[in-house]
Amino acid sequence: MKTKEIFQLAINKGIEADFREKEGVERFLKRKREKYEKLSEKEKEEFDLESLENPYLDSRILHIAEDKEIKKVLVGIDIEPAEILLAKEIGGIDLIIAHHPLGKGLAHLPDVMDLQCDVLNYYGVPINIAEGLMKERISEVARGLNVINHQRTVDTAKLLGISLMNSHTPCDNLAAKFLKDLIKKEKDNLIRLENLLNLLKEIPEYKEAMKIGAGPKIFVGEPERKCGKIAITEITGGTEGSPKLYEKMATAGIGTIIGMHISEEHKKEAEAANINVVIAGHISSDSLGMNLFLDELEKRDIEIIPCSGLIRISRIS
Ligand SMILES: [Fe+2]
Repeated sequence: MKTKEIFQLAINKGIEADFREKEGVERFLKRKREKYEKLSEKEKEEFDLESLENPYLDSRILHIAEDKEIKKVLVGIDIEPAEILLAKEIGGIDLIIAHHPLGKGLAHLPDVMDLQCDVLNYYGVPINIAEGLMKERISEVARGLNVINHQRTVDTAKLLGISLMNSHTPCDNLAAKFLKDLIKKEKDNLIRLENLLNLLKEIPEYKEAMKIGAGPKIFVGEPERKCGKIAITEITGGTEGSPKLYEKMATAGIGTIIGMHISEEHKKEAEAANINVVIAGHISSDSLGMNLFLDELEKRDIEIIPCSGLIRISRIS
């Protein structure tokens, strides 16, 4: 497989696992195309054409040094110049795959946050409320990204002649789908928060994270509290949503949410809304999603070298 095929495989896997389902993602892309057609010639010049095909603009091919068959990849959660130098030092690395967005992908992180509206709607929050509250939060995230040196790592990859891509939301979709399916399957056994916590602790990535003190934890609620309706609203969709959403989630009947991480402000709002919060773990949840994609590469005989926090677990038997 070449870099472009690996990237497309990530996008396709992300679409398969998307809360909006394939039809919903197609509708999203169709709307982008319709909007593009209506633009003036000048506006078309500034338009990011990739957005007509790629529903996850936080995921990109950032550099192709040599368009060749990929046999060995270095994969990490955060790729910085140090990891590019590491690839050079290891030698024989055909491609580096990052999880978190870089370069153009990082600049476009707010684009994937709309997905959260559909996820919230899936769990019963009216779409108008989700869209209204997310709009504010999306523009806040966009302004926050302005300060960043987007191209630092990409420039290093270019200078050292190393191919680089990242897969963020496609892999977060895979992690969210994995957890959603597991919760559905175990629904009858998930009465209290301690049951949910114990279920998460069985997942190999979280088991590994527990060894370094980064395993799943209850952030809001007590082990003996009842879960109620469990929602996977904070695993995919770019980054944290609006803190004002917890009250709306409670009204929509959600009792417990599973997230990757949570800020103090969000935690306080969840507490005030009596929503239980179980934090599965950030890098371990990122690893889970990456692993589900990396298994596809392993099946195609690509050697994977994990770095930068990636807990590599293969599910190929
Ligand atoms: Fe992450």
